[in-house]
Amino acid sequence: MFKLSSSLLFALAAGVLASPADPLITASPTLDKRASSCTFSGSDGAASASKSQAACATIVLSDVAVPSGTTLDLSDLADDTTVIFEGTTTWGYEEWDGPLLQIKGNGITVKGASGAKLNPDGARWWDTEGSNGGKTKPKFFYAHDLSDSSITDLYIENTPIQAVSINGCDGLTITDMTIDSSAGDAGGGHNTDGFDIGSSSNVIITGAKVYNQDDCVAINSGTDITFSGGLCSGGHGLSIGSVGGRSDNTVDTVTFEDSEVTKSDNGIRIKAKSGETGEIKGVTYSGITLSSINKYGILIEQNYDGGDLHGDPTSDLPITDLTIKNISGSGAVSSSGHNIAIVCGSTGCSDWTWSSVDVTGGEDYDSCQNVPSVATCDT
Ligand SMILES: *[C@@H]1O[C@H](CO)[C@@H](O)[C@H](O)[C@H]1NC(C)=O
Repeated sequence: MFKLSSSLLFALAAGVLASPADPLITASPTLDKRASSCTFSGSDGAASASKSQAACATIVLSDVAVPSGTTLDLSDLADDTTVIFEGTTTWGYEEWDGPLLQIKGNGITVKGASGAKLNPDGARWWDTEGSNGGKTKPKFFYAHDLSDSSITDLYIENTPIQAVSINGCDGLTITDMTIDSSAGDAGGGHNTDGFDIGSSSNVIITGAKVYNQDDCVAINSGTDITFSGGLCSGGHGLSIGSVGGRSDNTVDTVTFEDSEVTKSDNGIRIKAKSGETGEIKGVTYSGITLSSINKYGILIEQNYDGGDLHGDPTSDLPITDLTIKNISGSGAVSSSGHNIAIVCGSTGCSDWTWSSVDVTGGEDYDSCQNVPSVATCDT
């Protein structure tokens, strides 16, 4: 009904009359005839929202219960749409790949209202195997192909596996997002990455809090990416990579700053796959505070093979223009862990800046190789 009348209005306004043989609904109105605000809720809220998404300037998702095996799909939004989550959004249980939520578009504003929660109740899938086996687990949120968009104040609880996948984005700011999968520490959560970023540019993530069991942030490729004012707890730390062997193997200009990593396997980790090509350049870690680190305070490796520090490092995926500065981690590493491990290929690492790095508590790693002269594995 809505489409019909707006098409007619448009046709009349434009002075264009369709010949009787033409279908009536052909013109696409250039004026914004979207309903100003549409609210969806309950068990048919997701399907209705997906169906009507292009016709609403603001979409309010209020206590939506997404049925099992389906995506809350907002991948066909009109430009400049606002999406607001209210109350608790839930998802039914099914073994499948997901994603459970997908949002795509230009100029999109996504917000969590006060007290709103996105709760996929991942504990129903947790079996300690993550994406490596056991139950097939859905990925949670594809923030793919968003440009000039923002996501603010989302609170996400207990994801089955990876939480937020950022891919194909240009101009995305994520502010004050909490991802709390901490129940998975005791409950079999695995591969519950916070943010996985690939093939994106101009991404800013500020004030994020991530409680999980895998990378807090993992950047596989992308340009101009900043993570600041964040807290990472329970997982594998602030990671670049693994880089190599994908369609996009360039990481260029990435900054991690003023953030805290605690109760994690690693603090800072850069993983380049051995035998692969690509580049990791212009990465900065600055103002990072580490505490309760189990394995490595700082780990930089060109011999990642799916596991850390395996085999011979190679140089065709160089790590250049790397800055590691103002890292506070005195006594941060457990006595069975290693403070700093750097393993580079013979010409793989160059133009590094390294200052005010204080990471202690664990052992020195004694198999460091080709460490640039400004840096050191000795603590
Ligand atoms: C070092 O990092 C800490 C923690 O983010 C910050 O408060 C402090 O201002 C930084 N110091 C310098 C000299 O940049």
